[in-house]
Amino acid sequence: MRKLLFAAALCALAFSPSTVSAEDPIVIKFSHVVAPNTPKGKGAEKFKELAEKYTNGKVKVEVYPNSTLYKDKEELEALQLGAVQMLAPSNSKFGPVGVKEFEVFDLPYILPNLAALRKVTEGPIGKRMLKLLDSKGMVGLAYWDNGFKEMSANKPLRMPADYQGLKFRIQSSKVLEAQFRLLGATPQVMAFSEVYQALQTGVVDGQENTPSNMYTQKMHEVQKYTTITNHGYIGYVVVVNKAFWDGLPADVRGQLEKAMLESTKYANEISAKENAEALEEMKKSGKIPTAAETTAMRKAMEPLYQDMASRVGKNLIDEVTKVTLGATN
Ligand code: LMR
Repeated sequence: MRKLLFAAALCALAFSPSTVSAEDPIVIKFSHVVAPNTPKGKGAEKFKELAEKYTNGKVKVEVYPNSTLYKDKEELEALQLGAVQMLAPSNSKFGPVGVKEFEVFDLPYILPNLAALRKVTEGPIGKRMLKLLDSKGMVGLAYWDNGFKEMSANKPLRMPADYQGLKFRIQSSKVLEAQFRLLGATPQVMAFSEVYQALQTGVVDGQENTPSNMYTQKMHEVQKYTTITNHGYIGYVVVVNKAFWDGLPADVRGQLEKAMLESTKYANEISAKENAEALEEMKKSGKIPTAAETTAMRKAMEPLYQDMASRVGKNLIDEVTKVTLGATN
């Protein structure tokens, strides 16, 4: 795969903005792993529409959904090598490229609602975190929402003891790994595109995701129960290859920034509705824990804040907790 990526990167270099003729459009390959009819899928299409409009056709955006080009880990390598120009990986996927701070968003119950999230991402913490990506050959352009995560398995997952001995698919985040270990379950990192089959064949027993991701991948068809836990959050950082971005003519970069600003607004406006609709569709198998069960889950997961402090940063965890305190939707 590395050889393939390298060859693709050489091709990408040959067609970088500085070498194309005046008439050739600048191509942005925007790769992602979810279905087109999700908040991220629709956000990417909106960006395409606006980017092509504002640059008067000087830029062409090609959107590749559903891991058609690359799976989770490969897409980040492909971006760093310049084989694709734009991605929107979830916060949980930046650890393997050396930016583990984004895993702060994986701490269970750290974000009580979307208003709390916005206070973090749109304030100084969010801006500072995007800057961390520069040294990894990427520029963080925006935060896009998906939504809050639910748990699924072939049994209801109401209490900590229900997780004991089950195997769960996770994204590549050490915080998520620790979360399932704390519950007595076995976490297994797996690419998003492989989850449906792994659930169907019993390679894993369960998983956590947003209703929109679960419904559009038909996971509810191979899981008897979804437990509406809202214990965690999935959101994205839209990233662009830094050399590509810095090499763009300033006017084009400005037009793309405007397109990104507007598509971010759009993506963040539709995310809650998309998830509510998907949840409605899956309701038949849905289980809503009682307040007491939720309290038991929160309590069971509390030690993670301390256990993960050395990975994510104690100061960052404290800052986020302080900023989100009292935020209401
Ligand atoms: C997952 O891997 O479960 C999600 O990050 C997929 C996505 O991009 O929403």
